[in-house]
Amino acid sequence: MRFAIFTRALQSGNRRKLSPQLFSAFSRSFSQLHSQSKRPSFGIAFDIDGVILLGHTPIGGSPIALKRLYQNSGDLRIPYIFLTNGGGFRESKRASELSELLDVNIQPSQVVQGHSPFKQLVKRYESEFIVAVGKGEPAAVMSDYGFKNVLSIDDYASHFDGIDPLAQYKKWAIKPASNENSSFKETTSSIYSQRVQAAFVVSDSVDWSRDIQVLCDILRTGGLPGREIGHQPHLYFASDDLEYQASFPSERLGMGAFRTALEAVFNRIHHNPLEYTSFGKPNPLVFQNAETVLKQLLSSLHPNAPAVNQSTPESHHFKTLYMVGDNPSVDIKGARQAGRPWFSILTRTGVFKGKENHAEFPADLVVDTVEEAVDYILEKECPQ
Ligand code: G3P
Ligand code: MG
Repeated sequence: MRFAIFTRALQSGNRRKLSPQLFSAFSRSFSQLHSQSKRPSFGIAFDIDGVILLGHTPIGGSPIALKRLYQNSGDLRIPYIFLTNGGGFRESKRASELSELLDVNIQPSQVVQGHSPFKQLVKRYESEFIVAVGKGEPAAVMSDYGFKNVLSIDDYASHFDGIDPLAQYKKWAIKPASNENSSFKETTSSIYSQRVQAAFVVSDSVDWSRDIQVLCDILRTGGLPGREIGHQPHLYFASDDLEYQASFPSERLGMGAFRTALEAVFNRIHHNPLEYTSFGKPNPLVFQNAETVLKQLLSSLHPNAPAVNQSTPESHHFKTLYMVGDNPSVDIKGARQAGRPWFSILTRTGVFKGKENHAEFPADLVVDTVEEAVDYILEKECPQ
């Protein structure tokens, strides 16, 4: 506990309790300790929903826990990222929102969302016509990644009269003010004749009935709704969570539930079963990518420090990477499958609420909150 006591004493809330001399002596020795330190041999990946936030509310002491990963100056000292299956907004926007909610300075490079791996598909679809589905600003996310010919499903559907026969009854529905992707200025007739080459489910669908209808139209006609049956365009999902924890006491249906519903309907109305690719945790590639992102972050924090194993920054190997999550079948399963150097920590603030460890996907450690998880990590990795 000594490390936690030392850092806690330096946090702003306690500064007033220390004499100015004692405070500056603490600060001096702390920054000397930091500047002399080697590159840390560990990193942390935090899940967001059910660990850091419930809806938009910080939980489990998350602001205090994260503050311990920074120096008194506010500079980051421990490499950590957010590894969430959620999304819908650009990483830069999500980083600013999280910084405000959690009162620490979070860089866009520290935010890895379910849809972040879609960047790897830019070469394949750079100029192809694609449709982006989900809450938030799915088309803006895809444009930001480099896709040049993308329309949100809201904008796309608005070009087809009667495509959603229930639209008139959706009193809550707001008419899209303008194309979310402002660089896209096609007319209805050109949209109508342009073949959709792929559909990307970027974030949770807001209007399941409309999105299932329009996606079925796109997918069974080879990308030309209302026309003949054709070869199914590619379909990508940012994640496959059946359920996740938001502000309601019991779990909410996630993107995996939407995928299940779409697949069930599509397979009843089409002769070939739905083909799709899902990203997100527990996919091992997500954990490999997280390790790469943490290495890059570490190099930027300690550009001149000698690596623990004397290797170059690029070939640096972490001894331990901590995954702090709330969902056994997503976060813990993923970390377990990824193997070393991943170490899984399960919190009780989200999907998992059990007393003991989870039976099917047991974590390396079970704690009540993220604050407890960070205490454990810092005591183990930075003993005084
Ligand atoms: O929609 C969000 C959900 O699928 C899970 O988010 O942060 O728990 O990975 P997270
Ligand atoms: Mg979660």
